[in-house]
Amino acid sequence: MKWRALVFVLATTAFCLGFGDGVRDQSLREAARASGMLIGTAVRPAQLSEAAYASTLAREFNMLEPEDVLKWETVHPEPQTFDFSQGDEIVDFATGHGMKIRGHTLVWHQQNPKWLTEGKYTSSELAQILEKHIKTVVGHYRGKIFAWDVVNEAFDEVRPGRLRSTIWRDQPGIGLAGNEVASSHEPRASSAPARSELEARSSQQSYSYIERCYRWVHEADPQALLFYNEAGAEVVNPKSDAIYAMVRDFRQRGVPIDGVGFQMHIENLRADVASISANIKRFTALGVQVQITEMDVALPVDPNGNPRPEDLQQQADIYREVANACLSHPGCTAIQTWGFTDKYSWIGSHSKHTQGAALLFDRSYAAKPAYAALRDVLTTGRR
Ligand code: G3I
Repeated sequence: MKWRALVFVLATTAFCLGFGDGVRDQSLREAARASGMLIGTAVRPAQLSEAAYASTLAREFNMLEPEDVLKWETVHPEPQTFDFSQGDEIVDFATGHGMKIRGHTLVWHQQNPKWLTEGKYTSSELAQILEKHIKTVVGHYRGKIFAWDVVNEAFDEVRPGRLRSTIWRDQPGIGLAGNEVASSHEPRASSAPARSELEARSSQQSYSYIERCYRWVHEADPQALLFYNEAGAEVVNPKSDAIYAMVRDFRQRGVPIDGVGFQMHIENLRADVASISANIKRFTALGVQVQITEMDVALPVDPNGNPRPEDLQQQADIYREVANACLSHPGCTAIQTWGFTDKYSWIGSHSKHTQGAALLFDRSYAAKPAYAALRDVLTTGRR
């Protein structure tokens, strides 16, 4: 363990014992013990050297996920170069504090390096590049990262239920018709469809490139749980219908998929919790886990970044209701927020600073009403 990590293990242990910040009540991770729920957050390694950041993280969460540093542009900046330094820092921190680690993400259309997006590769070259990337990154963290967001946001924003056009799918794509069939190494149930039928089905649905990714990750770490992660699919809608069909098909054919991540970036203080709950129910009935992977509830903020007090209470209600929906389904195993302090959140810069204050702690690490609401659910919620 690096010296910086060691210093913070000691400092944060002191905070956890109650010497640092006067927190007397149960933390979120203590409250989650009874239900066995995973309570996580996205993390930026540059902030780990800030005492309040590190102590709050260690005290409150039993799981974390690198927000950006396992994405291609950071971890695979040149064709022959992998850089795990920032990812390793986060993994060391988590290991030192008994936290589980989710991996995010192996296949996405954003935050890819130019050498990849602007390279003139053939389909088979691209497939080799992706296979090498997946096997190198997953292999590096084998036994450390317990769950991977293998593919992120593959379904389209505007064309309901259709796959997004990306380098992976069709520019030049690695999985369109004729490119892919189920791996011959994978054992199939006797009732599984014949190869020709798989080919027809794959080309029709054209998510065969996604299937290949899950098989590659499984080869690299057979113990890791493999998730499909998506935005805007929390409720029952055409996008979640399409994901449901894909996951059901994967499960029927023995493609290794273990879970679905619903991001849960909530805007305009609107959440259809009944639909969220129905959606969790139908996915868990397929035998996969559901995890809430990126929750935040953005509020309108003034030029100083301050929200209206009345919005904070509404925000707390949304955190409470979504957490309740998750806890009421045994297959919903994690609630993770996309960062934990309003000091560091993607919402500000991505909304020209008109939105923000989306997380559980304010910019000074004071707990907000949303924190109390979530802790209340974790304390009293029954599985
Ligand atoms: O890497 C550069 C760095 O070199 C430069 O100095 C710095 C200056 O701003 O920018 C850095 O890039 C930033 C990158 O994060 C890495 O920190 C980008 O500007 C910034 O736009 C980028 O934003 C990330 C965003 O994904 C990219 O789309 C956010 O931090 C991250 O929270 C967000 O996370 C996504 C999930 O992965 C998937 N689901 C949606 C979620 C929110 O958009």
